[in-house]
Amino acid sequence: MYVGVDYYPEHWPEEMLEQDLDGIKELGANMIRMGEFAWHLMEPREGEFDFSFFDKVIQEAKKRQLSVMFGTPTATFPAWLAKLDPSILSKDEYGHPRAFGGRRQYCFNSDIYHRYASRITKELVKHYANEPAIVAWQIDNEFGHEGSDLCFCEQCHTKFQLYLEEKYGTVNELNERWGTIFWGQTYNDFAEIPLPTPTVTTHNPSLKLDYARFRSASLNRFAHDMTKIARDHHAAHQQVTTNVSGGFFDKWFDHAENVRPMDFVSYDNYPVWGGLTEPVSPAEIAMTHDFNRGLKNQNYWIVEELMGAQGHNVIGYLPRPDQAKMWSYQAFAHGCSNMLYFRWRGMTKGAEQFCFGIVDQDNRYGRKYQEVQAVFQDITSHESVVNAPITSDIAVVYDYDNIWSWKSQIQSSGFDFTNELLRLYTPFYKQNASIDVIPVNRAFDSYKILLVPALQMIDDELAARFKAFAEGGGTILFSFRAGLKDKDNNIYLSRTLPGAIAELAGIHIYETEALAASQSVPVVDAAGQNEICEGSVWRDLISPQTAQVMYRYNDSFYQDKAAMTKNKVGKGSVYYLGTGLGEDRLVPIAEEMLVHHQIWHKKTADGVEIARRSVNDETYVFLLNHTAEPQHIDHQTLAPFESKVVKWR
Ligand code: GAL
Repeated sequence: MYVGVDYYPEHWPEEMLEQDLDGIKELGANMIRMGEFAWHLMEPREGEFDFSFFDKVIQEAKKRQLSVMFGTPTATFPAWLAKLDPSILSKDEYGHPRAFGGRRQYCFNSDIYHRYASRITKELVKHYANEPAIVAWQIDNEFGHEGSDLCFCEQCHTKFQLYLEEKYGTVNELNERWGTIFWGQTYNDFAEIPLPTPTVTTHNPSLKLDYARFRSASLNRFAHDMTKIARDHHAAHQQVTTNVSGGFFDKWFDHAENVRPMDFVSYDNYPVWGGLTEPVSPAEIAMTHDFNRGLKNQNYWIVEELMGAQGHNVIGYLPRPDQAKMWSYQAFAHGCSNMLYFRWRGMTKGAEQFCFGIVDQDNRYGRKYQEVQAVFQDITSHESVVNAPITSDIAVVYDYDNIWSWKSQIQSSGFDFTNELLRLYTPFYKQNASIDVIPVNRAFDSYKILLVPALQMIDDELAARFKAFAEGGGTILFSFRAGLKDKDNNIYLSRTLPGAIAELAGIHIYETEALAASQSVPVVDAAGQNEICEGSVWRDLISPQTAQVMYRYNDSFYQDKAAMTKNKVGKGSVYYLGTGLGEDRLVPIAEEMLVHHQIWHKKTADGVEIARRSVNDETYVFLLNHTAEPQHIDHQTLAPFESKVVKWR
C-alpha cells in the first residue's frame, strides 16, 4: 500500500531537499508525487531536455526507500511555447485567447500543442523508463478542471464541423435531426455551422449537445494519445493513471471514457475549498468516492487528499483537528486503496500561497503533521481491510449526454444534476447501505435497486433494459422528467410522458411545471396520515394508470394528481418521484426497499457513518464521526471527528 505526499522540490532551495525527504520519511510515507507542473524545468528552451534536477531528487528519494508517482507536465506549458505559437492558447466564448499565466489554458484541438506535449511526454517517460523508483505515471493533471474543457477557437470550430460531417454524413441529415427548420436555421454546408458562442436568445439544443460531445471527444482523444505515448515508452513495473478533480458532473467530458486506458483511477479529494464556510455534506463526499470507484468498478487512489485549508484568492474553512483524518478514513471506507496528501508544505510564492499543506510556511512539524503520521501508522496496519472488495446491491446511474442536455436547457432555476442525484442517493447513504455510482450503460444484473435521477434521455433500448430489470425482481426509482428526450436532444413526438418508461411506471404525466429555486408546492401522502410537506424544483402532475399513489399534491386544481407513485411490474416494482420531495420523506421509502431486498443497512445518528468490510470470515467496520460532538454507535464511542477501523463484534 502506498501512502505519501505531493512534493514539489523545485519550489524550495536545494539545501532543503534532504531535510524535507527525511521529514517525509519520518511521517511514515513510502511515496512522493511530483513533476506535474515542471515542464519548463525539463525543457527550458525548445528541444533542450534536461532531467538532471529530478534525477537528483529521485536518487535522494531512493536512499530513503521512497517510491515516486511522476506527473507528465502538460497541464502547464512553458512561456516560450506560448510565445512561439499563440495558437495553442484556448479561447473563451467571446473569442478571447486565455492568457499565459494560469494553468491548463491549452486547446485540446491544437495540433501544435499536441506535438509539443507528445514530445515532452515521450522524452520524460523514456528517460525514466528504467527507473525502479518510479512506479506510476500520472498523465497531465485534472483534465478539464477550472473550465479548461471548453474552448471556442478557430481550430475547435473547424474540427467541430468535421466531427459533425463524420457523424451525420450529409448536411441534410443534420438539418433533419437538429430540426434546423426552426427559426430558419437550415444549413447548406457543414462550413456554415456556428459554435455555440453568445448570440441573441439561445442556440439549437441539438447543436449544444453535439458541441458537448465534441468537447468530450476532443479532451479524451488528447488524454488517450498522451497515455499511449507513456505506455509505448514506460517499463512494465510502471502503471499509468490520471487524476480526477471534484465537480465532475459539471464538466464537459465523459469521465469513464477518460480513464478507460488507465491502470487505475486517481481522485483529488477536497471536501472543502476556497470560499466555502462549511465542508460539503458527508453524503456528497461519500458519493464522490463511489463515483470514482464506479469509473472502472475497482478501488482507486487518492493522489491529493486535503489536509490544510485551501483557496487561491479566497481561503476556505479550516478542517478541525482530526476532521481531515476522518475524511481520509471515509475515503478508505469507500474504496480508496492508496493515499497521498496535498501537499507537503504550503508554498510562499506563486498562485497557491493559500493552499496549506501538512507543514505550513514556518516549516514546523505540528498538529497536521502528527495527524497524517497517525493515519499512516494506523491504516497501513489494516491493509487487508482496505483492499477487501466492496459489493453493492444498489446503483445510482448517470449519463453525461443527459447531464449536458439538462445543462443546455436547465428548465428550472432550482435544478442541479448533482443535487438531484444526491436526492436519491442520500436516503440510502443515511442508512449506511453500500451504493455504486455508475454510467447507465453498465450491466444492471448484479444490483437489486436502481436509482435513476432526472434521466430525461431514455430510448426504447434503455427502457427495455429497465423493464427486464424490474420484471426480474429489481426495484427502480425514477425521478421527474424521465423519458422526455431522444439522443438528438429532441422531445419525442406522439408519446405521453414519461415516454418509453410510461408503461413500466404505470403512469401518464398529465401536465408539468418547473418550480423556481425559491418555489415549492404542498404535497401530502395518499393516506393523508403525515403532515403536508413540500415538493420543489419540478412537478410532474401524475395520472396513475396501473400505479398506486404514494404522495399527491394538495393545492387546489391538482389534488387528484399524484406526486409519487409505485407500480408492480413482474416480480419487481417501479417508483416514480414527480417532485423534489425532502429527505425526511424519502428515507422511509428507501428503508422499505432495503428491507424488501434484505440489503444490509443500519440507521445511525446524523453525521455518523459506518461501512462494513469482510476479510476472510471476519467483519471489520470503518466508524466515522462527521460531527463536532461525541457520538455513540452500539458499544463504541467516537470523539468529535474521530474515525477508526475496528473488528465488528
Ligand atoms: C487541485 C490541483 C492541485 C492544486 C490543488 C489546490 O485541484 O490538482 O494542483 O491546485 O487543487 O488545492
